[in-house]
This record gives sequence, C-alpha cells and structure tokens, in this order.
Amino acid sequence: MDERIISGEADHQDTSFEYSLRPQTLAQYIGQDQVKENLRIFIEAAKMRNETLDHVLLYGPPGLGKTTLATIISNEMGVNIRTTAGPAIERPGDLAAVLTSLEPGDVLFIDEIHRLPRAIEEVLYPAMEDFCLDIVIGKGPSARSVRLDLPPFTLVGATTRAGSLSAPLRDRFGVMSRLEYYNEGQLKEIVVRTAAILDTEIDEEAADEIARRSRGTPRIANRLLRRVRDYAQVRGDGAVNQQFANEALEMLQVDRLGLDHIDHKLLRGMIERFRGGPVGLDTIAATIGEEAHTIEDVYEPYLLQIGFLQRTPRGRIATQLVYQHFQMEVPSNCQNGS
Ligand SMILES: Nc1ncnc2c1ncn2[C@@H]1O[C@H](COP(=O)(O)OP(=O)(O)OP(=O)(O)O)[C@@H](O)[C@H]1O
Ligand SMILES: [Mg+2]
Repeated sequence: MDERIISGEADHQDTSFEYSLRPQTLAQYIGQDQVKENLRIFIEAAKMRNETLDHVLLYGPPGLGKTTLATIISNEMGVNIRTTAGPAIERPGDLAAVLTSLEPGDVLFIDEIHRLPRAIEEVLYPAMEDFCLDIVIGKGPSARSVRLDLPPFTLVGATTRAGSLSAPLRDRFGVMSRLEYYNEGQLKEIVVRTAAILDTEIDEEAADEIARRSRGTPRIANRLLRRVRDYAQVRGDGAVNQQFANEALEMLQVDRLGLDHIDHKLLRGMIERFRGGPVGLDTIAATIGEEAHTIEDVYEPYLLQIGFLQRTPRGRIATQLVYQHFQMEVPSNCQNGS
C-alpha cells in the first residue's frame, strides 16, 4: 500500500507524537458528545456504587480516538490500564496471564478485538460475565479443568469492524459506542489545541483549512498540521497562516476535501471505466491495485460519509458530487448522492 498522508491509520511518526497529544480527560476530549455523555454517566454511577465499570466496546474508522478514549476511561475511573491487542493473544494462556495480573477495577484494553482467535474468545466469555477463568491443566485422560477467580475488571475493546465480532462476544459488552467522523468545527478545535501543545502559532484561516482537509479524522488533522508546520518553518518563521497551509497541502496532493491521489484514482476509474457504476468492490480493487478489504476499511468509509459513493446490492455507485468535484459533466442517469 502506498504511504498516504491522509490515511486514518497510524504511521510510526504518529505514534511518538500522539502520546503527547492525547487528551487525558473527558473534558479535554473534543467532539463525540453523545459517546462522552453516556460514558460520563456510566462512570459516575459506577464510582458512586463503588463498582467496576461495565465492559465497553468502541468502534469506528481508524484515527477517531478509540485508544484515546480507552485511556480516558481508566483515568476517569482512577484505575490502571493494561493494553494488548487481538493479534498479540495467541493462546488461552496468554490471556490468562494478562487477566490474572489485573488489580481489582483495572481496565483491560484489547485493541483490534475482532482479531482475537475464536478459542481465546471462549476463554473471555466467563471472564467477562463472572470474572472467572476455566483453564485446562494437563493433557489426555488426566486433564482436568480448574476454575480461577479473577479480580473484577472492565474490558474495553476497540475495533474498526464491529461487524466482524462474533455475536456472543458483542453481547457481553454493556456499553457499545460508535465513534463518528468529526465536523470541521471540532477538527479546528483539535488543530488549535495541538498547535498550542506543539508551541506553534496558527491563525484562524489556517486552522480552518487544515480542518477542512482532514477527512473528519483527528489523527489526519494532527498529521497535516505537523507537515504544514514544517513547511512554515522552512518558508517563513514557523507561524502557520492560510497561504502556507494551502501551499503545503497542495504540495502533499491533498485536495480541498482531503482527497488524495488514491481517492482520485478510485473515483476517476469508476467514472471513466464503469460510467460511475454500479461496480463491484473486487473490480474496483483490481482496477486500482489495492486489496478489497483495504478499500472497504480505509478508503471507502469517508467517501460514503461525504456522499461521493453509494453502496447498492449491485455494487458501488459514484454520485453526481464526484462529477462536480472533478468539474465533469454529470450524466443524466446519475445518482444525486443525497
Ligand atoms: N476527541 C479528540 N480530541 C482531541 N484529539 C483527539 C481526539 N480523538 C483523537 N484525537 C487525537 O487523534 C490521535 C489518534 O487517536 P487514537 O489513536 O485514539 O485513534 P484510534 O481510534 O485508536 O485509531 P486506530 O483505529 O488506528 O487505533 C490521538 O493521538 C489524539 O491526539
Ligand atoms: Mg487505536
């Protein structure tokens, strides 16, 4: 896969930066008001009753703040957080080791929880429901099952694909929160906040410009800000204004809606070769040389969100907004994207 400046997924540079940029409390966490409000109530209630918080599932596209929210939950509850990821837990013993090391009330954060092996999920069910573990000791006829009590804990699971979670696992979460794309106002707040943390001067128009091109995604907003800041450093005195923002983003080939050359290739391909569709996901994938699941998880969600694509039983359709974006004539049979 091409290195994409506007990918919602984290690259290695993001990882070191993000640590210092992550909001630590619900009050610092911008946007997602519904999710925050729910969590605030559940957290307060759990604290008043001196109980552990119910298990929480966070889902939504990459870079919208799932990991950040998991950390905030543990901060707000005043407990420790242990972090692991679905693919890192290979054997039931791995999970048992993590679970038995928790302190009462702790948060266990499992990122990419949809990638947990099935056999591990089965160990997780009784752990989530009754805070106990059934482990098998020995092999063959002498094998016996032992039940271990666990400290009460809160499982926070994060996934970009809630649909790939098995139903029994999904059902064991008391709280399910879907993170939405951020609006421009919220992204602007995030850009301004990040600029302050990075000690970078930025004016209103520049913050607006970056927010507009960030695809509703805080991780992208922060990344674009960093690149624009580099540009302003070299071309000017480091202060970020709209001209620098425009020039830098132009140079990075991020267009005014935050679409890059891969989006362009995908959309133009659909228009030029398939008359706007409907065209199947696998065909699109083959045309632009990407994996179907990458298109589905990474590229497509935002294009659907802004109404550029529609999903139909017969395949994807490019709407008239795409033609307008490329200043092409809209064919008479075209979908309107609303
Ligand atoms: N609501 C928010 N307010 C301010 N900054 C945010 C917010 N949400 C996310 N961010 C910023 O965006 C970055 C990415 O967020 P995070 O790592 O939590 O996303 P994620 O949903 O876990 O992504 P992935 O699916 O790749 O794991 C964080 O470093 C944080 O600085
Ligand atoms: Mg994450």
